[in-house]
Amino acid sequence: MTLRREETVWIPESDLEGMSVDTLAVRAGQIRTGQLEHSDAIFPTSSFVYGSAAQAAARFGGDEPGNIYSRFTNPTVQAFEGRIAAMEGGERAVATASGMAAILSTCMALLQSGDHVVCSRGVFGTTNVLFQKYMARFGVETSFVSLTDMEEWRASVRPETRMLFIETPSNPLCEVADMAGLAQLARDNDALFVVDNCFCTPVLQRPLEQGADIVIHSATKYLDGQGRCVGGVVVGSEKMMEEVYGFLRSAGPTMSPFNAWVFQKGLETLPIRMRAHCDNALELALWLEQQPAVERVFYAGLESHPQHELAKKQQKGFGGVLSFRLKGAREEAWGFIDATRMISITANLGDVKTTITHPATTTHGRLSPDDKERAGITENLIRISVGIEAVEDLKTDLGRGFQALQNASTDNV
Ligand SMILES: Cc1ncc(COP(=O)(O)O)c(C=O)c1O
Repeated sequence: MTLRREETVWIPESDLEGMSVDTLAVRAGQIRTGQLEHSDAIFPTSSFVYGSAAQAAARFGGDEPGNIYSRFTNPTVQAFEGRIAAMEGGERAVATASGMAAILSTCMALLQSGDHVVCSRGVFGTTNVLFQKYMARFGVETSFVSLTDMEEWRASVRPETRMLFIETPSNPLCEVADMAGLAQLARDNDALFVVDNCFCTPVLQRPLEQGADIVIHSATKYLDGQGRCVGGVVVGSEKMMEEVYGFLRSAGPTMSPFNAWVFQKGLETLPIRMRAHCDNALELALWLEQQPAVERVFYAGLESHPQHELAKKQQKGFGGVLSFRLKGAREEAWGFIDATRMISITANLGDVKTTITHPATTTHGRLSPDDKERAGITENLIRISVGIEAVEDLKTDLGRGFQALQNASTDNV
C-alpha cells in the first residue's frame, strides 16, 4: 500500500474568523496529517525525531519552530490549546495536567515572593488550600473575601496585590461576581484578574471579553463532559502564556496527548451539552424550590437568586450546577444522598451523568470549620451537577431522597 506523504497542516484559523463559539468548538485548532483523516489525529509520543543533527540543534536553540519533546511540544496538546483559546477569545492557551496544575502554573509563572493575592472565599476547596498552605510557604499571601462584596474587595487590595482570583458562578453556592467591576479594580491596582471559568465554559461566558486577563479551566469538568480524564488549561495573552508555558516546560505539569485528544473531542459537543445541562438544571431548581423539605435552593437562574440580574447580563445561561439546603443537618443530607439510586454519588461535576455531593465532607472537607461557615458550606448543603438525563427521571430519583426523609421523620414520631 502506498501512503500519501503530504505535509501535516494546521487548518488556518483565518478561515474561522468571526465565527461563533459553537462552530469554533467543532472546527478550531484542527490539524490534518498526510493521511487526510477527518477526525483529529492523536500523537502519543514522548519525543520527536529530526532530519539532521543541525535541525535538532536549531529546534533546541529555538531557531526553528517544531516538535521536540512532549513535556512542552505535542501536536495533539497544541490542537486542544488552539481550540480552547479560540473559544475563549484568547491569544494563546497552555494545557496542564489538571485544573489545579493550571492554577499552580499561573501562580508560579506570574507571581513572586512578597506578592499578595485577593481570592474569593467560595472557590473550590483545593484552590483555597493551594493559596493558604502552599503559596504562603513561598511568600505569597492571600486574603479571602466575599465574591459579591465589592467593598471588601476594595478594602483588601494592598500596594503589593498582584492578582485577583475568582470562580463565577462559585462552587457550590452559585454566587455570581461582577466581572466588569473586578476587572476595573484589578486594572486600577496593576493586578491580574484571573477567572476560573469551569462552571460556565466559554459557551456561557467569556471572561476575557469582560476584562479578565486570564481564564482557567479544570478541563476535567465540562470540557471533557463525560468524566474520563483529568486536565486543565490557562488562556490569556501571548506574553503571559509564554511565562506559563516556560514554567510548564521547566516544572512539567503537562497534559498528556491522550487526554488532550479526549478534551478536543469533548469540546465538539460542549455547546449542545451546555444547553441541555442548563435546561435540566433550571427545571430541577424550580422543582426543588417547591419541596417542603428544602430550606433554600442556590441557582443563578432562579429569580430568588440575589445576583439573578447580573447573571443574566454576563452569562448566556445559568449552568448545570445547583445546590440546596435541606431542613436538617448532616444526617438528613447523607440520608437524602444515600436514598438516590440512579444519580452518582461522586465529587466530580460537569458530567453528562448527574452527580450528587455533600460538599462539607468531600470537596470542601479540608476547610477549617470557620472557613466552611464563612463560605456557607453547611452540613445540610447538597450539590447537584445536573446531567443530561431526562429531567423527569432525575425528579423520580431525587424523590426517593425526599421520601427517605419523610420516612425517617415518621419513624421518629
Ligand atoms: C471550579 C474548579 N476549579 C478547579 C478545580 C480543580 O480541577 P482538577 O480536579 O482538574 O485539578 C475544580 C475541581 O473540582 C473545580 O471545581
